[in-house]
Amino acid sequence: MAIVNARELLFKATEEKYAVGAFNITNIIEMEAVVEEAIERKAPLIIQASVSPSKSIRPEVIAAVYRTLAESAPIPICMHLDHCTDVDFCRTCADAGYTNIMIDASKQVYEENVRQTREVTEYCHRVGNISVEGELGTVAGVEDQIKVSEDEAALCDPEAAVRFVEETGVDILAPAIGTAHGIYKTANPKLDFDRLKRIFDLFNAKGPRVPLVIHGGTGLSPEVVKKLVALGGSKFNVSTDLKHALIDATFDYISANRAQYNPGKVDKAVKEAIKKRINYWIDLLGCAGKA
Ligand code: 13P
Repeated sequence: MAIVNARELLFKATEEKYAVGAFNITNIIEMEAVVEEAIERKAPLIIQASVSPSKSIRPEVIAAVYRTLAESAPIPICMHLDHCTDVDFCRTCADAGYTNIMIDASKQVYEENVRQTREVTEYCHRVGNISVEGELGTVAGVEDQIKVSEDEAALCDPEAAVRFVEETGVDILAPAIGTAHGIYKTANPKLDFDRLKRIFDLFNAKGPRVPLVIHGGTGLSPEVVKKLVALGGSKFNVSTDLKHALIDATFDYISANRAQYNPGKVDKAVKEAIKKRINYWIDLLGCAGKA
């Protein structure tokens, strides 16, 4: 009942100027935690898995857990494959039951990015109700197997973005605007807000057409997050923050309970820590009560 693709969720968010949290998970406990918190806050949700966790847990297992959790949830939930550089693995995850696929060919030359993005988009639209996210420009930092140095990072050219969407048919666009994966080296990273506004206006000024994604959520100040959402970012990606919450909660629990051997209690501590972070992000993104 609550299985949706990202396009459906993000049209409403783009129109009403809030963002849907897109939270990267690395295991099933985290999947449960993000779903439970989103249900408590009545927030629409995008669960994301990068390529490594998708491969280690296996796409069909992730999709089965997703289906089970989403079908009984009173909120819409999308399952997204994050930053995949391999067209074949995009197909595998689409076949398994993910409902949004990100083909990330942003490090390729423009023509190759178009070719791969179009191939994945045509496939996903043909086999099911699956939306596709593409990236233009390159987001700096490290997310799973994607590593982009500051020298390699390039911002998204708005006019090229219009061409890219036309040529690929992609549903959702991640324009590089200066945000970065991982921990920011400075408290005030240089973001190009004007560029985001220009890209938003080109696509969505007359109503939602191509929702925009903000990558690199971790470490942005609350003011910056709110500004990016107000300027039209409607899918907001958070990964590193949750990895830290998971590792820190595990470490703290084990340090305080060294004589205990009860894995269920470690899982509970992790779940609570993740839920706290999801609660924080849902407040900032303005998506509570929007389900
Ligand atoms: P962070 O790790 O900086 O939160 O970035 C997440 C992201 O953009 C995933 O695609």
